[in-house]
Formats: sequence, structure tokens, C-alpha cells
Amino acid sequence: MIKQTIKFSSSSTNFYFEAKFSQLKQLADQKNAVIITDENIFQAHQSKFKNWNTIVLKPGEAFKVQQTADSIIDQLIELQADRTTTLIGVGGGVVTDLTGYVASVYMRGISFGFVPTTLLGLVDASIGGKNGVDVGIYKNMVGAIRQPNFILHDHSFLSSLPLAEWQNGFAEIIKHACIKDAAMFRELEKGSVELYQKKKSLLARLIKRNAVIKIKVVQKDEYETGERKLLNFGHTLGHALETQYELSHGQAISIGMTYAAEISNQLLNFRDVDRLTSVLHQYGLPAYASFSSKKIFNILKMDKKKERKILHYILLDKIGKATIHPLSLTELEQFINSFNH
Ligand code: GLY
Repeated sequence: MIKQTIKFSSSSTNFYFEAKFSQLKQLADQKNAVIITDENIFQAHQSKFKNWNTIVLKPGEAFKVQQTADSIIDQLIELQADRTTTLIGVGGGVVTDLTGYVASVYMRGISFGFVPTTLLGLVDASIGGKNGVDVGIYKNMVGAIRQPNFILHDHSFLSSLPLAEWQNGFAEIIKHACIKDAAMFRELEKGSVELYQKKKSLLARLIKRNAVIKIKVVQKDEYETGERKLLNFGHTLGHALETQYELSHGQAISIGMTYAAEISNQLLNFRDVDRLTSVLHQYGLPAYASFSSKKIFNILKMDKKKERKILHYILLDKIGKATIHPLSLTELEQFINSFNH
């Protein structure tokens, strides 16, 4: 188990890369900890949860809502959890977001840690401290920024991961490559989901490389006043598409990245739209989609990142280098309409 302590602005997180779930006992007292997980993880890895207090949630983004948080709080009260209790989220982004959110408000804040079980969770969703719930059609509308005490990686959970979830993870990995790491983009161009599934050491290196990219960006700008906005590449349009159409997060942000790359081509002479769409297809992700811009722009009007009528849109100068570009909703709509045929 490789321990790395990462300092954020007012707290730090111990990362345990390439660890084992059984080592969780060394990080939290089993009697005074509560694991939050979902039915899929619980059923596929039941033996791991023996001797732990466990709250099992229904799986899926539809349950990342206040009502689930309230039900977790009721169960914590029943379990007599107090200020010394540690909550441990074992799952994908929905579970870790709910865990971090409830831990931030239960008794005005208790300690928490994560064991991300999906590729997306390992490289992105568990890192950064933003934890919250969706409200109606608005994603992550309510929440808190608070860093977990620890994050433990056990790649054996990936054995039960469906292909669609691998693809979700690769969408964020491709995003990291686009905004920060041209060499990783070239590595991805030579690879495939199957290759990383087969070559465990290659996968372990890729997971750590991506976790480090995210960690470094968050360390520089925990409260998203500048640099951290780069992580939103593909996400502004992506989140709006995700709530309006039957798309996974990975599919939605892949389409968002393609449109952002097209706008980058027009405004910044970005030359590699085709390389991006090829790599997305290579990992089973879509590039373009037809959608109703009316539906999408009604949502973008409420985007959290919007300041007055201006969106800070993330564009690419080149692969590996992203930039923040102010765009009005009207300009964005014109671009989208011109590509959407
Ligand atoms: N929970 C993901 C983040 O903080 O960015």
C-alpha cells in the first residue's frame, strides 16, 4: 500500500494507491465507522463488508438526491453515529458524493473517507472535495466542498465493472489528456479499453497518473476561481445533455468535448478535432449528437458556472493545453446550431 499525503488549503487527504480493501481496518475503527455503498457493489463483494456497519443504497444517479441524504441521516441516527464516527463511501461517484455531502452536514460535519470502485471514481469523482446532490434537472445543485480524510484504491472492485462504466471512466481520462497531458493522449491513441483491462500494471499507472492530474489542479485552486475550471472541459454542454437525454455521464461529456473542440477550432485555430473524435470512438464513446438547443439552453441559463450572461467555456489551444474563454449564451447557441445538423 503506497501512502501519499496530499495537502489542500485547509486539510489533507491520505491517498493509499494500489491498496487492498482489507487494509481499511487500519484507517478506521470498524465499531465506529459506517460504510455507505450501493446494492450492486454490496451484492458483488458481500464478503468484504463483513463486520462493518453498512448502509446500502439503491444504485444510480436518480438516487443522488436530498431524499437519499435524508434517509442516510435517519439510518445514522438509528446506528447512534456521533461526532467521532467516520463515514466511508464505497462505490462510484453517486455513493462518494452522497457520503461526502452527508458527512459535511451530519452533526455539522464528521470525518469521512472513500473507496472508489469505478474507473471514473478512481480517476475523478472521489477526488476534489465537491460533494452534493442533484435537484430536479440541475446536477450537483446543492452540496459542500470538503476533502475526505483518506482515499483507498483497491482495483479488484473493477472486476465487476460493466463495459459502459469503463467507458465513463475513459471519457474523464481523455478529458485529462486533452487539458493537461499530450503524452497521455498519445498513449491513449495507441490503446483501447480491452488493452487496459488486460494489462493491470498499465492500468494502475494510468489510474495514478490521472488521479495526480486531478489532485494537482484541485491543490492549485480548490474553490474553483481559475485553474480548476479547466476540469469542466466538455461538462457545460455535457451536463445539460445528460439531464435531458438518455446518456451516460461519459457519453454526454464526450459530446460536450467534441463541440468544445469545434468551437476551439473556430476561435483558437485548434487543429485536432479529428484526433479527439477518433480517440473517443476508439473507447466506445460518441462524438456528435442531434439535440434540441431550446431544451439545452433552458438548462444552461441556470448553469452554476455562469456569471451574469457569460459562461467561462473551456477550450483547447492544442491537445494538452486548455484555456478559459468567456462566451455569451447567445454566441454559444449560434456555434451549437451551426454544428448541429
Ligand atoms: N467530487 C469531485 C470533485 O470534487 O471534483
